[in-house]
Amino acid sequence: MLDKAHNRLFVLGRHLPTSLHGSKTAAAGVGPFRNATNSKPSHEGPGVIITGASSGIGVTVAKEFLKRGYRVCVVARDEAKMKQAYATELAGSNNLLTLPKDLATGKGCSECISEALDFLGRLDVLVNNAGAGKLGSSIENTSSEDWDWHIDINLKSVFLLTQASVPHLAATKGCVINVSSIAAQRPFPNLLPYCVSKAAVDQLTRCCALELASKGIRVNAINPATVVTEFHEKAGMGKEAAAEFYQESASAHPIGRVGTPLDIANMCLFLASTDNAGWITGQTWLMDGGRLLTCQAGKALSQAAN
Ligand SMILES: NC(=O)c1ccc[n+]([C@@H]2O[C@H](COP(=O)([O-])OP(=O)(O)OC[C@H]3O[C@@H](n4cnc5c(N)ncnc54)[C@H](OP(=O)(O)O)[C@@H]3O)[C@@H](O)[C@H]2O)c1
Repeated sequence: MLDKAHNRLFVLGRHLPTSLHGSKTAAAGVGPFRNATNSKPSHEGPGVIITGASSGIGVTVAKEFLKRGYRVCVVARDEAKMKQAYATELAGSNNLLTLPKDLATGKGCSECISEALDFLGRLDVLVNNAGAGKLGSSIENTSSEDWDWHIDINLKSVFLLTQASVPHLAATKGCVINVSSIAAQRPFPNLLPYCVSKAAVDQLTRCCALELASKGIRVNAINPATVVTEFHEKAGMGKEAAAEFYQESASAHPIGRVGTPLDIANMCLFLASTDNAGWITGQTWLMDGGRLLTCQAGKALSQAAN
């Protein structure tokens, strides 16, 4: 059984800390806010919007929040893919809404927040995770259209969705979690507009955190290194090359492996919890297996200990 802390925190408009301590009940997907039989939205329980949740990181984040009793709205363009990704969850509960929207448009962003709120009734957490990149985009060959394409989905959507969420998050003392990238903090060749868009997401995170702190809204970002998803394949690598890339890049991360969507989801749960992260705002959390600790040390230094 879930303890009273869940309900207490719900009443206070806060989040669910006990689940973060590995509660077996939460892990089994049983929460006080689930209502498997009622076909109408109950508007009970904290609400979370997760963008970019038809594949990869977003799907795992959504499922982890659902397991902990949140009511969840997942957003992406491909509705059929979302229905497939959450077939089990949609059959077993009315706590999940799939919302097909193109978040690279202003219309998609404003409809996303208003329709999600109709379903959720309240907003406690906004996870701005939708994003994309195109390999081979350098300063010399990036067209104006390609620049806009990157900025619209990776940056402008984060701005518009956060802006539209402010009154709802102020009402719950909620939080925003932006999924940025290590590419925000280090340049990678031929990924110029992607790197720049993510660097701007980091600064947007800090600006929003400062401005919204007095309303009780916390804003943080997570900056992953390589995570196994569809991202690289879609960016132009192709399926086989992406699989090889994941194998090869394990050694580029000092921890010895690439990341999983669950690594990122666990951090989202931590940041969403007021009890665990209530004093944390405006931070960009590198989740990179030590990747950005590395630099080319040169042979002499590398071999010095041998
Ligand atoms: N994988 C990595 O190594 C890595 C590393 C650092 C940061 N990230 C960041 O992590 C986030 C999630 O990416 P992922 O790795 O999980 O890749 P993914 O599997 O390709 O997921 C990207 C998600 O974004 C959605 N999306 C893309 N364009 C959209 C649009 N115009 N409107 C609405 N949704 C859109 C996609 O859904 P639809 O196509 O159905 O719209 C999909 O659900 C991204 O912000 C990415 O930049 C990933």
